[in-house]
Amino acid sequence: MTENRTSVQNLAQQYIEAGKPKEWFEILYSQANNDEKLVPWANMQPNHNLLQWLDDHQIQGQEKTALVIGCGLGDDAEELAKRGFQVTAFDISPSAIKWCKNRFPNSLVNYLVADLFHPLAEWNQTFDFILESYTLQSLPTSLSSQSMPLIANFLAPEGILLIICRGRNPEEKLEKVPYPLTKNYLMQFVDVGLSLQQFEDYFDQQDSPPGRRFRVTFKK
Ligand SMILES: C[S@@+](CC[C@H](N)C(=O)[O-])C[C@H]1O[C@@H](n2cnc3c(N)ncnc32)[C@H](O)[C@@H]1O
Repeated sequence: MTENRTSVQNLAQQYIEAGKPKEWFEILYSQANNDEKLVPWANMQPNHNLLQWLDDHQIQGQEKTALVIGCGLGDDAEELAKRGFQVTAFDISPSAIKWCKNRFPNSLVNYLVADLFHPLAEWNQTFDFILESYTLQSLPTSLSSQSMPLIANFLAPEGILLIICRGRNPEEKLEKVPYPLTKNYLMQFVDVGLSLQQFEDYFDQQDSPPGRRFRVTFKK
């Protein structure tokens, strides 16, 4: 797994240095060819940080809409659908979306190929709940911060945005993908009109690899 992680980091680095930071995802998923062991973030189960948050917040999905950004292989989107949300889940990688549809042929989730930076007009002010887990940290921060006004705009009034990511202090140097995020970086969501509800900063022992995580809730 460590060896695969290093080769994925090298692939990402090569594309980022070539000025194509969004292109390596499709290459990774298509080369993985349905072997999840080759996709470092593919746990084939919902993120436990999401499950715990949903349980703690007793959030009811009935008649609520949810958007999953960079949905990967779909487990978090399926969990939200199970809890009653009407879920739209998108990913830039056509192979990832095809994989989701093959894994969950009877899914209630609306899976789409889409680029966060070129969103559908119908997403404006639409979603009661948005989940972003581990996607912003997989893009260079100069690019990912451009998504913040877009993400804020997808939220319906009173909508909730949940971010789950690796966390770091500002003085820690960034090396290769994934790029852990800082609190100041995430607080840019306040600059684009959201209010901070909760900022959790903890060590996640269960994740692979274990490490510092931020789980942050914003409200429109
Ligand atoms: C590190 S993975 C995390 C996947 C999933 N959220 C999870 O937690 O397992 C990042 C995901 O974001 C997707 N992605 C990257 N850039 C994107 C973009 N501009 N628009 C949509 N999806 C994107 C990638 O294809 C990949 O599936």
